Amino acid sequence: MQSFAPVTPDVIAALEAIVGAANVVTRDPELLLYGRDETEDLQYRPEVAVRPIDTRQVAQVMELAHEAGIPVTPRGAGTGLSGGALPVFGGIVLSVDRMNKILEIDERNLMARVQPGVITGVLQEAVAEKGLYYPPDPASNGSCMIGGNIAENSGGPHCVKYGLTKDYVLSLEAVLPDGQVFRTGGKLRKDVAGYNLTQLLVGSEGTLAIVTEATLRLIPMPAYRRTLLAPFDSLDTAARAIVAVYQSRITPSALEIVEKAALAAAVEHLGRNVPYADAEAQILLELDGHDEQALDRDVERVGEVLLEVGALDVMLADSPAKERELWSVRKCLGEAVKKQAAYIECDTAVPPDRVPDLLRGVREVAARFGIRQISYGHAGDGNIHVNVLTDDTDHARRTERLRPAIEAIFQVAVGLGGTITGEHGVGCSQSRYLHLCRDPVSLAVMRAIKDAFDPRGLLNPGKVLPAEIPPPLPVA
Ligand code: LAC
Ligand code: ZN
Repeated sequence: MQSFAPVTPDVIAALEAIVGAANVVTRDPELLLYGRDETEDLQYRPEVAVRPIDTRQVAQVMELAHEAGIPVTPRGAGTGLSGGALPVFGGIVLSVDRMNKILEIDERNLMARVQPGVITGVLQEAVAEKGLYYPPDPASNGSCMIGGNIAENSGGPHCVKYGLTKDYVLSLEAVLPDGQVFRTGGKLRKDVAGYNLTQLLVGSEGTLAIVTEATLRLIPMPAYRRTLLAPFDSLDTAARAIVAVYQSRITPSALEIVEKAALAAAVEHLGRNVPYADAEAQILLELDGHDEQALDRDVERVGEVLLEVGALDVMLADSPAKERELWSVRKCLGEAVKKQAAYIECDTAVPPDRVPDLLRGVREVAARFGIRQISYGHAGDGNIHVNVLTDDTDHARRTERLRPAIEAIFQVAVGLGGTITGEHGVGCSQSRYLHLCRDPVSLAVMRAIKDAFDPRGLLNPGKVLPAEIPPPLPVA
């Protein structure tokens, strides 16, 4: 296992000199908050957490850590689902939460410049006031931060029409593990000068450099939106509806699937009934556009398609309140499942037309291994969150016990041309499975890239590439 230098009182004093003593956290219980994210129940303990205010302070912290040989784990809001922000080797957690300024909303170029600690939903509201739209919307968009979204290349329901975080990042300012600052481009829609460092950093899970500023693309806010809910009496039929929608040549702005067990978890979590809770599966579909009549024609057509495929009904939300109600069921599922039991999540993604095969395969694996699972997700993107539930709260034991079933689920996805993570990232919770979907040559290139950015292996160690890491702290 890799080993690192400890954080000494001298290091703490130097960090205090950089960011101010008020922005250095050294004591529990606050310190422990910097040792967890939303991944399962994993808890680690950093030696210290720092909250820099600008790029210069980030660079100074990195330079100090680099010289001392201390690992640094960058952190946004800690809403990640693959352990990306967990300080698995202790060391310094570098939180960007104070770097939370929207630097510019450029209405002439339809771009925004932001610091990494801006909350995604705050940016979305700020640009919406100007009739603009920043579409990537992870379920946690009320609390997650743009820096974390960039690190993980986050998705969300609206990616099916509008693309992922990567499709909106035009250029970045970032700090290397040794403290050097660099910019990957400017306010450019086109720029093909050299290797695409912008896109290399997007989705690099905070292992290559720390993003300190991002230039993002914005689009005009669609003027009209419609939300539909369709219950089905079989999961398979619901999954086949995805292809039927695609074949209708209509692109929904969201196309989500929720199976019965997930609906039950939502009912429990929300403490109220939800529409069509008894259905075997539901499709939540949204359409948007700038032309209301054209939109309503599409809504009618999609409704027909869903009924032709076998939907039991198609409900059209008739008010913004109803829309919010339908979305609240879908958006609460991450938390609702978490409440059910300890779990391990498989963030599978396959070509959208293989979703029926994926869901069937997952059910077969569950039956074969006698495990309980709950599936839901971004069906239109072929991205299904399969949550394997367990009563075992001991992380090491459950990981070992469930490994064959988890691997079998990933094998089903990969066998269908898919991947082990569509949007949550590899982090430390999925890295042992990375070889299932990346060949040895790709893995070697990834290692070489990591070495080029971070030759001493100090930035977010133990993430993405398979590595032996210390066990998490016992769950209280
Ligand atoms: C969601 C999160 C878990 O789709 O990605 O709800
Ligand atoms: Zn998701």
